Amino acid sequence: MAIQLADFPEVTKAPPRAKTYKGVQVLRHDPCGVEILNIDLAQPMADGTFRAVMDIWHQGLVICFRNQDLTAEDQLRFGRRVGELSVIHTPEFTGEDPSIMYISNVKKNGEFVHALPIGEMMFHIDQCYQPRPAKATILYAMKIPKTGGNTLFCDLQRAYDTLDEETKARIAGRRVMHVYDYDAGATHTAAAVADDAPRYVHPLVRTHPVTERKCLYVNRLMTREVVGMDKAESDALLARLFDHMENPEFVYEHRWRLGDLLMWDNRCTAHARRDFDPEQERVMRRLTVLGEAPA
Ligand SMILES: [Fe+2]
Repeated sequence: MAIQLADFPEVTKAPPRAKTYKGVQVLRHDPCGVEILNIDLAQPMADGTFRAVMDIWHQGLVICFRNQDLTAEDQLRFGRRVGELSVIHTPEFTGEDPSIMYISNVKKNGEFVHALPIGEMMFHIDQCYQPRPAKATILYAMKIPKTGGNTLFCDLQRAYDTLDEETKARIAGRRVMHVYDYDAGATHTAAAVADDAPRYVHPLVRTHPVTERKCLYVNRLMTREVVGMDKAESDALLARLFDHMENPEFVYEHRWRLGDLLMWDNRCTAHARRDFDPEQERVMRRLTVLGEAPA
């Protein structure tokens, strides 16, 4: 039976802790998620400030620049500074640049014209079914519904660290197959995936190339099997890992405000989207930054 995100309890935690790091004012959430309060991404950013932002990102896994007013070019400039932008594999959804994708429920002539228009979306890792998945996703809120549509972020470092030693030994060196079938299972696990759906095998546990922390690298939406393991055993192990990582203790729930620019690290987080009123417009402009092959 498909697991519904609606059953996932709303995550509310202690208020974030205010800090200043190398001149950058931040509010730090638990276990991940950092709001950055005093940077305008439409303005030039000094190299030292950019390095501080990247440090905050690597420590906080998800960063949110509040109150931004950004053109596509402003967003592209910041994204290119983070790294090489990925070209979108669904050209029908691209925007001003081949690396810009719009996620929205806007309709033209009664039809949705952008990607992933409505509804909740199960936990996943962007592009994990590709040889070089995105390291960063940069999402800018242009229109948001009055309620709903929160994004949940799971800290996959914490999820790995809290596994028992027996499970850590059992998954060490294992590899998993990730598949994404946009037609059959764009937002929830497909019962069966098409033979030609994009897929790739990556390590079940990966090491973050910057922080060198180990991260669980699986997700309920896209991870189909542990390679070389009997199907029943693989299904049971994956189900247990999904349940473990989706513990609300490891999750930060982002409540969007207009003008938020979020950047999350897909190497060490999984994310999910809550449902929202399909009659209220929700428009997000997305970039992804190419990562390294997981190892
Ligand atoms: Fe995503």
